[in-house]
Amino acid sequence: MSNSFLSKDQPDRLSKTSRALHWLIALGMVALLCVGIIMTENELWNLYDLHKSIGLLLSVLIIFRVIWRAVNGWPHPAGHYRPVEKFLGKITHWGLIIGSVLIPVFGMMHSGFSGHGFGIFGLELVKENPDPQRVNEVLPIWEAGYKFGQAGHQYVSYLLICLLVLHIAGALKHHIVDKDKTLLRMLGK
Ligand code: HEM
Ligand code: HEM
Repeated sequence: MSNSFLSKDQPDRLSKTSRALHWLIALGMVALLCVGIIMTENELWNLYDLHKSIGLLLSVLIIFRVIWRAVNGWPHPAGHYRPVEKFLGKITHWGLIIGSVLIPVFGMMHSGFSGHGFGIFGLELVKENPDPQRVNEVLPIWEAGYKFGQAGHQYVSYLLICLLVLHIAGALKHHIVDKDKTLLRMLGK
């Protein structure tokens, strides 16, 4: 079981679970950040259900990753770094993992309390709240809750984009300047 799905991360090798979770969540989050911004900017209403469905499916992996990290701890640094670098790495990882939990929670608050509801590819989890007076319109269930969810979803998405820039810059710095295994071990090499 040297590198099976349930083996722990090693200083020179990350487990398959850590790598699979990292890249699946990374791909999903980057896609949702792009789709989210494009659909809201251009009012592409037909993309909303797709965005919510993928966001909800991704949340299952996100929760699993949090449990995996809580049980296994964070990967050990791949080299010897200055305290400021260690600190930056720590806050970026914590920020990304907390942000990835908060963003779907705020998304659900927004969609649920606004009366639009949400589900996964047609499987309804929270129903719409149709307006009896107006066809094809919905009524908010809790105005303040939906506005809070909407603002939270938006601000966390901006924060995630900033952290992601820092995160990718850090990964490239390790690879190009420090020439260590940080990026390679996340790629399974
Ligand atoms: C798309 C480009 C990305 C690259 C090149 C990249 C690269 C890396 C690398 C090299 C590590 C290992 C760091 C170490 O060993 O100290 C890492 C860890 C991590 N990355 Fe990324 N990453 C990317 C996207 C993301 C995204 C979108 C998230 C958002 C959730 C994310 C969250 C994390 C977290 C939380 C860790 C800590 C280890 C873990 O729990 O998997 N990364 N990343
Ligand atoms: C899991 C990762 C997710 C990411 C990275 C993400 C990202 C984004 C981004 C960047 C936007 C555009 C910025 C904004 O105006 O808020 C957006 C919009 C939106 N997202 Fe998400 N989202 C995620 C999950 C969800 C989930 C699970 C739901 C609901 C179940 C959801 C519902 C919405 C809605 C309704 C909007 C439109 C906001 C508006 O019109 O003001 N999102 N999302």
